[in-house]
Order: sequence, then C-alpha cells, then structure tokens
Amino acid sequence: MTATTAAPVVDAARTPFGPGTVETVDADEAVVLDLPPLRLGNLTVDVPVVLAPMAGVTNKAFRRLCREHGGGLYVTEMVTARALVERREKSLQIVHHDADETPRSVQIYGVDAVNVGKAVRMVVEEDIADHVDLNFGCPVPKVTKRGGGSALPWKTDLFHAIVSAAVREADRGGIPVTVKTRMGIDDDHLTYLEAGRMARDIGVAAVTLHGRTLEQHYSGTADWSAIARLREALPDVPVLGNGDIWSAEDAVRMVEKTGVDGVVIGRGCQGRPWLFGDLQAAFDGRRDRARPGLRAVAATIYRHAQLLAEQNDDELQGLREIRKHVAWYFKGYPVGGQLRAQLAGVETLDQLEELLNQLDLDQPYPGPAVEGPRGRAGNPKKAALPDRWLEDRLIHDDQRLGLVDAELDVSGG
Ligand SMILES: Cc1cc2nc3c(=O)[nH]c(=O)nc-3n(C[C@H](O)[C@H](O)[C@H](O)COP(=O)(O)O)c2cc1C
Repeated sequence: MTATTAAPVVDAARTPFGPGTVETVDADEAVVLDLPPLRLGNLTVDVPVVLAPMAGVTNKAFRRLCREHGGGLYVTEMVTARALVERREKSLQIVHHDADETPRSVQIYGVDAVNVGKAVRMVVEEDIADHVDLNFGCPVPKVTKRGGGSALPWKTDLFHAIVSAAVREADRGGIPVTVKTRMGIDDDHLTYLEAGRMARDIGVAAVTLHGRTLEQHYSGTADWSAIARLREALPDVPVLGNGDIWSAEDAVRMVEKTGVDGVVIGRGCQGRPWLFGDLQAAFDGRRDRARPGLRAVAATIYRHAQLLAEQNDDELQGLREIRKHVAWYFKGYPVGGQLRAQLAGVETLDQLEELLNQLDLDQPYPGPAVEGPRGRAGNPKKAALPDRWLEDRLIHDDQRLGLVDAELDVSGG
C-alpha cells in the first residue's frame, strides 16, 4: 500500500478567508535530499515522514490538514489498550479514520501484554488500521511512577512480553508493528539500544527513537547522536529519528547526521500543518517552502475549527479544541494580545470568523519569528518511579500490581 494525500472533506473554498492556499517561495537556503520510500513490512510510505502521535493534537481533523500538504504516515493520538478493548467511546473515536486516509495508523499504549495483545487483535479483526505503533515514551509522572510509559522498557521481561503479544497478533493480519521509545530513564539508565535490539528480534517493522530520556521530559535538545547509534546498532530494520525537527532543513540534517530511514515530527507542526509540504519537497529534491501570510493562516484556523466541530459533531467542543491551536498558529505573527485573549474564549464558528476578520489579513509571512522551537518545553524532572524500580531489570509481583493503574487517565507521550 502506498500513502497518498487526499482531497478535503470540508470544502476549503467555503472558508470566509478563501481556500487557505499557502504561499511558497523557492528558498535559497533550502536543502534537499533524495530519500527512498519508507518500508514498514508490507506498507510503503512514499515520503519517509511520520506525524508523531500527540495526544490532544493528532486527531482526524489535524491529520487531514497535514495530509493535504504532503505525503507520509500520520499516526493517531495514543489510545490505551484497555480502554480500546473495553470499547470506550472516546477510544473508538481516536482510532477512527476518514475514508480516504491511507495508510491508517494507530498508536497503542499499554502496560500489560494480555491487554495489548487483545487491542491489536481487535485492530486486526475489525480492520481498524494498517499499522500499529506502540508507545514506550510517555514521561507523565502519574504514569511512570506506576511503572508505565518511558519507565517500562527498564523491565526487559515486561517490554518483551508486550511487544511479542502485539507482533504476534498483528502478524495474523499482516500489519506492521513499530515501537516508539525514549533513550531511557536518565543518563545512567539508558534502555534504547537493548529495547531496539529486542524489538527487532521479536519482529517489529521499525523502531522510533525520541532522543531524550524520561528525566529530560521535553527540555534541552534531543540527542541525535543516540539516534545515530541506534541506526548503527540495527542495520536490518528501519530506524526513525524523532526530536527537535522544526523545519525541512532540520529533517535533512537529521538524516545526514544519523542515517535514519525516516523522520518523525511532533511539536514542529503544531500550528504549521504546511510543514509536511516542505518535508515532502525536501525529500523530493525541491526547494519550495511554505511562507504563509496571515490570510492563509486565518483560513487554515477556520477550516481546522470546522473540521474539529464536524469530528466532534459538536460546534462548541470543536471551538474549545481549536483554542490551543490558535496560539500555535499565531506564534511569530503580529497579532495583538487583546485579540489573542478573545480568541482563547471563542465558542462559535461565527465568532471565530468575526475575530479573525479583525486581523490585518494582508500581513505577509513574518520570517524567522515563526520558525524554530515551539510547543511544550520545560525543565528536566527527576524520574518518578515505583519503589526499587531501578534495582532489578525484571518486574516484581508487587510492581506488576502497581502497573494496573498506569493505564488510567493517560494522555500524552
Ligand atoms: C502535546 C503532546 C502530546 C504527545 N502525545 C504523545 C503520544 O500520545 N504518544 C507518543 O508516543 N508521544 C507523544 N508525544 C511525544 C511526541 O510524539 C514526540 O515524541 C515528542 O514531542 C518529540 O518530538 P518533537 O521534538 O518533534 O516534538 C507528545 C508530545 C506532545 C508535545
């Protein structure tokens, strides 16, 4: 199967701000690289670019906007194995794809091999997706203090059991499984090389490394040299690099520095779905880069809100969800504080239109102010772990009991 970009469901021409066509320029500083398609088992992803799963961000609406700009693999927000198996409404909504979305990719988070196996079986039997990614990167303290998320690969027996269950079930439907992990718990407790080798031996289709430890959360810079080491350690399976790609140029640089087979983009596309157009251009050997003026940004915000309202079948909910995106969309654009504050409370599409109309829509692309790091950052935090977690690489019975709650109320990685 081959990834394609798709035609819009919400008619873009209907936005009050025009179709939202993003201006592009042939940028002198643009760098390009010819990278072969990414092969994940039986899937071929023509443009070796992955939208990183982001809870609260990479839902159907946002994936559509991204897909319209470029090819790649667009992963859902994470869904917990247990909630999916229990068929909770929110979880079923997360794994739902638009009819034209191909390949369909879901991310599953679980702390128990039986549940993860059941969740993957459900994906296969109910034809929910064409690809499953497993999340071992969540740094949220309430999860890691019970042994879940990025604390989990430390327990090699548990990690092995979960990945094995997922691969076994996925194999029945011939769909590829990938794992996404951080470097480890902290600099003294690194797990990625061992976890990567183990996952490769079990039969995953690729390993993604976010070049940070749990302790780092989102602070500092991602360590691309660790990504290069993983690439070298796993010559026989695709390795995908993740962390601090803010532009197509960063993506090319990561590939050149690390040798990865593809790049995974998280925060860099928040408020910038057109980044996927730049990434496709760079990997197709072209130098055109998106330089949207404020009118194109306004049209995209409006359309994003329409899609969120449609996805939720609830206008107010859609408008609530657009608010955080608005802040990302306007990063670096000349938009006054009062208007930003009003937009942060917007409740209807009409209100959104009225407020966006107060912008000076002819403002051109502001340049470097919109580029570079964006989104979650923060400071390192000592890893919150269960008692005596680091003493042993195998999981104890009492720790296994604690894990039960590590799947509850989780969001984010
Ligand atoms: C708001 C937010 C939500 C996230 N949710 C998930 C998630 O559900 N699953 C996951 O594996 N990683 C999650 N992540 C981590 C990203 O997938 C990615 O690994 C991380 O942001 C580093 O990549 P970046 O530097 O390109 O942002 C999340 C990150 C952010 C900022």
